[in-house]
Amino acid sequence: MEREKIILDVDTGSDDAVAIICAALSSKIELHSICTVWGNRPLHQTTDNTLRVVDLLGLGDTVKVYPGCETAMVATLLAKRHAGYGGQRKSVNGGKEVSMHQETIDELPAPHTLPQDKRAVMHYIDTIMNGEDGEFTLVPVGPLTNIAMALRVEPRIAGKIKQIVLMGGGCRRTNSTPAAEFNIWADPEAAQIVFTCGAKITVVPLDATHNACINSDEVEALYKMGTPVSNFVADMIKHRIAAYSYLQPMKRLDSAPVHDALAVCCLIRPDVLEQVELVRCDVDISGGIADGQTIVDPRAYTDLPPNVHFAFFANRDKFSSLLFEILRGEN
Ligand code: RIB
Ligand code: CA
Repeated sequence: MEREKIILDVDTGSDDAVAIICAALSSKIELHSICTVWGNRPLHQTTDNTLRVVDLLGLGDTVKVYPGCETAMVATLLAKRHAGYGGQRKSVNGGKEVSMHQETIDELPAPHTLPQDKRAVMHYIDTIMNGEDGEFTLVPVGPLTNIAMALRVEPRIAGKIKQIVLMGGGCRRTNSTPAAEFNIWADPEAAQIVFTCGAKITVVPLDATHNACINSDEVEALYKMGTPVSNFVADMIKHRIAAYSYLQPMKRLDSAPVHDALAVCCLIRPDVLEQVELVRCDVDISGGIADGQTIVDPRAYTDLPPNVHFAFFANRDKFSSLLFEILRGEN
């Protein structure tokens, strides 16, 4: 079977870190390169965190890291639209800040691999335009700024790529605001540009990721596996479970979604996603209460043609066993 050749786009981040690991270790994926983007944290931090994970995997010589955009295309021009990195998912518990996001991934040493001088937007354009038709799958799991910028500069890349599989959005689940999920809310204009670019797109939203939570028993099993990588994944998910239990409890209290890893895993095993429907989906860019909302048209006769495959559900057990298989080198 031919491996899926992907360019990952990350704002690392604990779940981005697990996504990088899944992409790097799975025999079904060829991780071509990684682009970083602002999002969970400022760009210099998401890039530094990404390089730490690349070093953990020993990939510094083979998988190059391209720093991307430092802020949204336009949304940050209006202060009221953006409350800061990582949305509003921060609080104080007993005098200690609880956050969904890691500032620096200090479980890992400072990186020795350096980022590329070339910026992500140029990397996308050169790599895709010089590649074969259908050679690359793009997997963005942060704000969509880099890819939208690349599409604006060189729209022909939309017709050259195989597909885009992205983590973002939500229909019945949101996190940054009552209407919007973080990756889309952070740069709604970029998301709308990507959603309407004409490429094949699969959206892995919160509706799917919240139904595929990893629990604390599984974290213990990861520690028992005992490799440096499985220990690190266990650390990341343990941190997420602590934060989610306090800030945004899931149905099962001691569990948390690992959003970005699910987007990578559906390339390895498509049936981790369930109820995937081809729908019309647009992003609210009005700057109002629904700013960044992913609006799925439920009508049978939509005004505009369907544009994305939207996953309304996911299979938790399949995702969990796939994660373990990847870490054991079995998938
Ligand atoms: O809303 C979930 C997304 O926000 C994930 O990509 C996570 O990494 C955070 O950026
Ligand atoms: Ca992310």
